[in-house]
Amino acid sequence: MHFITAGDTAAGPIGQGTWYLGENLSTARQECDALRAGIEAGMTLIDTAEMYGDGAAEELVGRAVQGYGRETLYLVSKVYPFHASRRDIFRSCENSLRRMKTDYLDLYLLHWRGQTPFAETVECMEELCREGRIRAWGVSNLDTADMRELFSVPGGGHCAADQVLYHLGSRGIEFDLLPLLRERDIPVMAYCPLAQAGRLRRGLLEAPAVRDTARAHGVSPAQILLAFLCAQPGVIPIPRASRRAHTLENAGAANIRLSADELAALDAAFPAPRRRTPLEIV
Ligand SMILES: NC(=O)c1ccc[n+]([C@@H]2O[C@H](COP(=O)([O-])OP(=O)(O)OC[C@H]3O[C@@H](n4cnc5c(N)ncnc54)[C@H](OP(=O)(O)O)[C@@H]3O)[C@@H](O)[C@H]2O)c1
Repeated sequence: MHFITAGDTAAGPIGQGTWYLGENLSTARQECDALRAGIEAGMTLIDTAEMYGDGAAEELVGRAVQGYGRETLYLVSKVYPFHASRRDIFRSCENSLRRMKTDYLDLYLLHWRGQTPFAETVECMEELCREGRIRAWGVSNLDTADMRELFSVPGGGHCAADQVLYHLGSRGIEFDLLPLLRERDIPVMAYCPLAQAGRLRRGLLEAPAVRDTARAHGVSPAQILLAFLCAQPGVIPIPRASRRAHTLENAGAANIRLSADELAALDAAFPAPRRRTPLEIV
């Protein structure tokens, strides 16, 4: 279950994030080039959102994907919770499609839970699927109780992904959210898979367990963080890189196979919590 599938499109095992990309004219060209390098290296899933740069990230994606066959890509965007109502979601979706220069999204996510009842959002998402504007829908930042509630509304079981914060230094989802999603064959898109280059967990990239494993494989610590997530069934990390060298490193992480001993050493250094912890959100 390493691949998110919708219709006949498959994506994985590592995608590309776009938060903060496209916001600055002076770096947009380099970022566009990085995304294209990622596509060519097999990272065909691109994650964005109407929130990122007020649409600027979606526009950058629209530019980056020009020239690639649409069926070879897996494009994901997200709707603000306060647009996830019957009144606003259809317009939001059309705006995302226009900015991304495409006529459908492979996956459309509710960015986080807001005031609109799940039943209303799901009904609209299902309509968008029937209209062909999206191929599948999912959610983001929903913890176990929210997911159970989602499954209880009509059509809620059609949810195709939950995108949540997950990295080696933050493994709370392994306690009950990840098992629940695996039970239902729902992939997890791991956001902040590099802990924002270590900013979210000081010392993560410098930790001996990470460094030693990286040295043994002749790769970088960042690649070990991605390889750790790729080793978790049903998980697809979506690192963001604004430069080609980082993108290519990230793509290369898909080929790293960590041994049971290496996984045990990483686990010992950064154990998953043994009790429920609230979902981390950035
Ligand atoms: N659903 C949500 O609520 C939510 C929340 C947060 C994020 N997301 C999604 O998840 C994506 C990833 O999360 P994120 O962007 O917050 O953080 P991230 O991917 O964990 O980290 C991004 C940082 O890592 C650096 N980096 C990338 N590749 C590297 C490498 N090989 N070696 C060293 N450093 C590297 C980047 O630097 P450079 O820019 O210099 O390459 C950037 O500073 C986002 O872009 C977004 O699409 C979703």
